Amino acid sequence: MCGIVGYIGPDNAAPILLNGLSKLEYRGYDSAGIAIYNNGKIEIVREVGKLANLYQTTDGGSAMPGAPGIGHTRWATHGRPSERNAHPHSTERFSLVHNGIIENTQYLKKKYLSKVSFDSETDTEIIVRMLQTFCDGGEEPFTAIAHIISEVEGSYALAIMDREHPEVIYAVKNKSPLLVGRGDGFNMIGSDAMAMIKHTNTFYELMDREFAVLTCDSVEIYTRYGKHVKREPFTADLDLTDTEKGTYPHYMLKEIEEQPVVIRRIIEEYTNENGDLTINDKILKDLKECDKVYMIACGTSYHAALVGCKMLESLAGKSASAYISSEFEYDMPILSQKPLFVFISQSGETADSRAVMVNVKEKGYKTLTITNVKGSTLSREAEHTLLLYAGPEISVASTKAYTAQIAVLAVLASCVAGKKCPLDLKYELSVAANVIEGLCSERDSYKELAREYVGDSTRCFYIGRGLDYFVCLEGALKMKEISYVQTEGFAAGELKHGTIALIEKDTPVIAIVSQENTDLHTRSNIEEVVSRGAKVLTISRSGLSMKKDSIIVGDVAEILTPLVTVVPTQYLAYYVALLHDRDIDKPRNLAKSVTVG
Ligand code: AGP
Repeated sequence: MCGIVGYIGPDNAAPILLNGLSKLEYRGYDSAGIAIYNNGKIEIVREVGKLANLYQTTDGGSAMPGAPGIGHTRWATHGRPSERNAHPHSTERFSLVHNGIIENTQYLKKKYLSKVSFDSETDTEIIVRMLQTFCDGGEEPFTAIAHIISEVEGSYALAIMDREHPEVIYAVKNKSPLLVGRGDGFNMIGSDAMAMIKHTNTFYELMDREFAVLTCDSVEIYTRYGKHVKREPFTADLDLTDTEKGTYPHYMLKEIEEQPVVIRRIIEEYTNENGDLTINDKILKDLKECDKVYMIACGTSYHAALVGCKMLESLAGKSASAYISSEFEYDMPILSQKPLFVFISQSGETADSRAVMVNVKEKGYKTLTITNVKGSTLSREAEHTLLLYAGPEISVASTKAYTAQIAVLAVLASCVAGKKCPLDLKYELSVAANVIEGLCSERDSYKELAREYVGDSTRCFYIGRGLDYFVCLEGALKMKEISYVQTEGFAAGELKHGTIALIEKDTPVIAIVSQENTDLHTRSNIEEVVSRGAKVLTISRSGLSMKKDSIIVGDVAEILTPLVTVVPTQYLAYYVALLHDRDIDKPRNLAKSVTVG
């Protein structure tokens, strides 16, 4: 997923842009570039590979004096990673960076650019060529940008510089994330707050098909029709330390070990003045009045949704089902009479989930977003939002956001249940936080188990039933996405219906046993794979454990066991990835937030 930064102000832009881009590295990229205005010219430097290459070429930015400037980290969609496809893309007058995908490129080329030759294979270059064409035809940049917005279909976040007017830069947004940072004597553009937090924590949101004109001292926002919009800025409660690794070798390890603190923060944030767990009345009303909750999410958030549905049904007797966003969008089931849609998304920017939100909102259904990012697209476009309070999650592999989602979903379910809730959830969540803390102190043992049970295997299985199966799906995803070991999360009872054919001598199998009503069944499934030569590592809940179990997690309320059984799976993935010398925080091919559909 691409990253965008822009700066206009009295200081040299290049070092500020490079620092901003470094805070966006977690989004995944394969090339980077910056454009700087200096003495009537726009100088551009682009490099394939890591941002370090750009730092080196520009000597940390000091070799490119001047301002304003724009910068970009590119995650290739149209056109392979190369210097010519890297952003910024320019004409003789304009330079532009883009995050997103243009959907009507052929139409635009045919209608406006049939006589134009292109330097790159990207869809982005079409936009800057259109801008140049419109201005060559006599339009002012302001009008030309509105014209572009009216013609271009797809997702785009743009930062634009004009060589003839270095006193302004432009920000343009449609579906892709983009914020404007408000400074004192300077202003910035960024894909998210993190890119700018070192300089300001005051931001303006741009809605779809809006654009902003930034000078050193002003930010003016306009609709696609060029109508001025009055909008109040918001402050982001991020601080720079949140986004630093501190003493940790990787963000992922830091974020695994932040989980106890995050759960305690959630308890605090959702406790009212009477000491009771509570959520906004309007949200509670809609949850109680609906006849079914449809949870929509992707990846790890989908795995949290599976647990959340179980909580709603068992704690509150509320019917609930979870759906993968990209499946639901094209294969919507027959809906209940009064559905409520809950979107679970750490970033709040996932395009697949947003596409469903647009769809269900058009049908007049109510929507709630549970997200870690205040002011994110899914948060702004939903009727209601519940925040995770997990702090920035930098590592592509989601860990603390997963347990935060489960904790918030537990709070939600207990509030819907009200006095009928069978648990003292506040107490049970704090027990879970303590158990996680204990598990974190065992980290060295997981390192040893990772080597002993998985080591340099290229295949691995997670098996479990019910909630344990849901955690198996999450554990398998973690293992896959950072160690690249082909791992399947499998319903233990289903193995004998075919997949057990894959089990052979020394196949690593990680079994999760935490549910009273299925532990003996899962134990017999463990025997099935052991008898076929598998190497089984069992993660069990202390009340159900056996001497031979490799990892025993402390007792928590059974419905909350995913909060604790997931922790060893996170560590196992981390240490296997370390064994395989992987790029743990930025795995290949992946992005932290998939804002393209
Ligand atoms: C999880 O480790 C992955 N990074 C990925 O599956 C992620 O959970 C998914 O893309 C959904 O992201 P979201 O929660 O920001 O919507």
